[in-house]
Amino acid sequence: MNDGAVVAVTGAASGIGAGIAALLAARGATVVGLDRVPAPAAARGPWLTVDLSSPSSIRATLNHLPERIDALCNVAGMHPRSAKAHEIVAVNYLGTRLFTECVASRMSPGAAILNMASVTGSGWQARFAMHRELIACETFEAGLAWLRAHLEPASDGYAFSKEALIAWTVLTAAAWLPRGLRMNALAPGPVQTPAFLAFQATRAGVANPDVDLVGRAGRIEEVARVAAFMCGEESAWVNGAVLPVDGGLQAAYLASGQGRAAL
Ligand SMILES: NC(=O)c1ccc[n+]([C@@H]2O[C@H](COP(=O)([O-])OP(=O)(O)OC[C@H]3O[C@@H](n4cnc5c(N)ncnc54)[C@H](O)[C@@H]3O)[C@@H](O)[C@H]2O)c1
Repeated sequence: MNDGAVVAVTGAASGIGAGIAALLAARGATVVGLDRVPAPAAARGPWLTVDLSSPSSIRATLNHLPERIDALCNVAGMHPRSAKAHEIVAVNYLGTRLFTECVASRMSPGAAILNMASVTGSGWQARFAMHRELIACETFEAGLAWLRAHLEPASDGYAFSKEALIAWTVLTAAAWLPRGLRMNALAPGPVQTPAFLAFQATRAGVANPDVDLVGRAGRIEEVARVAAFMCGEESAWVNGAVLPVDGGLQAAYLASGQGRAAL
């Protein structure tokens, strides 16, 4: 990441987003933090509140963004089982997509976009036809209507949201080649964020197979360093990639032949 680069990071109030924002700022970038909640005390640089479930909030934010943005890290996201399925997909995919389309209008050739997916979205190709249908909905509102009509009310929208994010990453990387913008995704396994640790604490004594397979959950800085690489010139020829950052979790599941519920 070049000194003086301008990077927008969503979900910068906590966890992985806060870790990425802090690392990029320490490396000399101007980091514009965005979240639905106000800036935490540790935040450095400009801060904008945005609610990714609201198209009007997203569009209003655009007026306050810097004229030039060199990289965008889409990290904000809702957790599994935190809301109805379509509400989770609305934030994790539809709102992220609309925000990205707005921000991309301020990006020049060479700029990079990084989407925080998850190992949970690794089965995206099995439902690619569905994801293509959702992606073909041109507006947030049309996408929401599609979700209401097609998602099982009782399903967990989280895996679907991360699959959609990955499918869109790949299709958009191809579609935006003429614009010279790169788009990639990271697929972390469990990461030691406050949210993950709180969830684990509620399950004391219950094994977490993902953690057991690779020995521990990842650290925030282990994801942040890869994110910084994917946003900077060092990764200039990486485009349309979905990179596991999971200590070998996906490899272990594939090698075991047993698969994983969401793989
Ligand atoms: N922690 C993990 O184990 C893990 C693993 C794989 C992927 N991820 C992904 O990484 C990202 C960050 O996860 P985390 O664990 O750091 O979570 P976190 O809860 O600490 O951070 C998520 C941030 O997103 C913000 N956010 C949520 N809804 C929003 C909305 N509607 N508009 C704007 N901001 C909103 C929250 O306020 C929060 O600051 C998420 O996308 C998550 O799905 C996390």
